[in-house]
Parts: sequence; C-alpha cells; structure tokens
Amino acid sequence: MRQLLLATRNAHKTREFAQILGAEFEVRDLANAPQSAPMEETGLTFAENAILKAVAISKQFPALVVADDSGLEVEALRGAPGVYSARYAGERASDAENVAKLLAELARCELEAGARVARFRCALALAREGKILGIFEGVVEGTIVHTPRGSAGFGYDPIFQPAGLSRTFAELSPLEKNRISHRARAIQSLRAALLA
Ligand code: IMP
Repeated sequence: MRQLLLATRNAHKTREFAQILGAEFEVRDLANAPQSAPMEETGLTFAENAILKAVAISKQFPALVVADDSGLEVEALRGAPGVYSARYAGERASDAENVAKLLAELARCELEAGARVARFRCALALAREGKILGIFEGVVEGTIVHTPRGSAGFGYDPIFQPAGLSRTFAELSPLEKNRISHRARAIQSLRAALLA
C-alpha cells in the first residue's frame, strides 16, 4: 500500500483523493497534526501555491506529500478570480458572496452570447523532504451561467457548466463531478505517475 500525506485539513478533499486514488493508496491529511505551520498561498499561479505548500509540509513530515491548489479562471475577466478564487469578494467571503461578485463583474462586461468561457484548474505538487518530485495539472472547460443552479458541491459549482453538459457542477452527483473535474483529472495523472 502506498502512503500519501495530503497537505490539507479539509476532510472533504481527503475523501475525494482517497476515492479517486483507490485501494492501492492510504491517504492521510493534516487533521491530526496541529503542530504544522500555517500554509502560505502567496504564489501567482496554482502550481506555485501547490509547490509552496508541498515543500513546507514535506520539510516537517517524513512522508510523500501532495499539496493542491485550484480555482476558476474566467476569460472575460482576464483569468480572474484565478488564485484568488477563495477570497474573491474578500478575505472571509462566503461562496455565495464570491459567486455574486463574479456574476456582477461579468454583467458589467456586457458580454455577447457565448463569451462566458471559463475553466477550473487544479495543480498538485508531489514532494519529499522539501524536494519537488512532480507537478500534475487538471483542467475542465466550461461556461458561466447567468443564474446559479443546483445545491451539490461548493464554491463556484452552481454557476459553472462544463462543456458538453446542460447541468452545472452543482447539479451533478459527486460521482459524476469526480469523473470530469479539474481535481479528478489532476489526481488521475498523479495516480498514473505513482503507479508507473
Ligand atoms: P483551494 O484549492 O482549496 O484553495 O480552493 C480555491 C477555491 O477555488 C475554492 O475556495 C473555490 O472557491 C474554488 N474552487 C476550487 N475547486 C472548485 C470546485 O471544484 N468547485 C467550485 N469551486 C472550486
């Protein structure tokens, strides 16, 4: 069994990783490691943030460490909210506040139909003892709908409709989302590399 330490305290993420990685992997996270230093997200790209976290945590724990960073890029907003996705409407903004700000910014752009192109990106960094062993990325293309729909998921899920589907991420079951999401794609490519 391969052991991985996820640089997160988010149990939802840990479950998602464990599900996608499958039975060959034992996934732990930082939930029971209160002594770990706070993780900085000061990079300008998702990969930079994932690297910062993976290096910091792998210096503190003798394990194979995976750190992730993810967010939404909207073309008409020149890639915003990007690495600021979690705090787009302010440091402690709720998902609903972030979604409302994004829809308001898009409305101000007075876009033509079809110009609401967006993508979710996820970057994973794999590290041991402070050294980066690999970077894995996943992308899912889609559009931003005008009105939020659905109640599953989190973050920007109610306004993101993946290309080729007529439902938003928040209208998909976790299983359906996990087949196509940016995070799932990044985790699959990490899995392939670890099993190679
Ligand atoms: P982090 O990777 O946990 O730092 O997440 C960054 C932010 O990006 C989240 O707080 C969400 O706002 C957004 N985000 C990342 N992945 C998703 C997703 O799968 N659905 C909706 N929002 C997401």
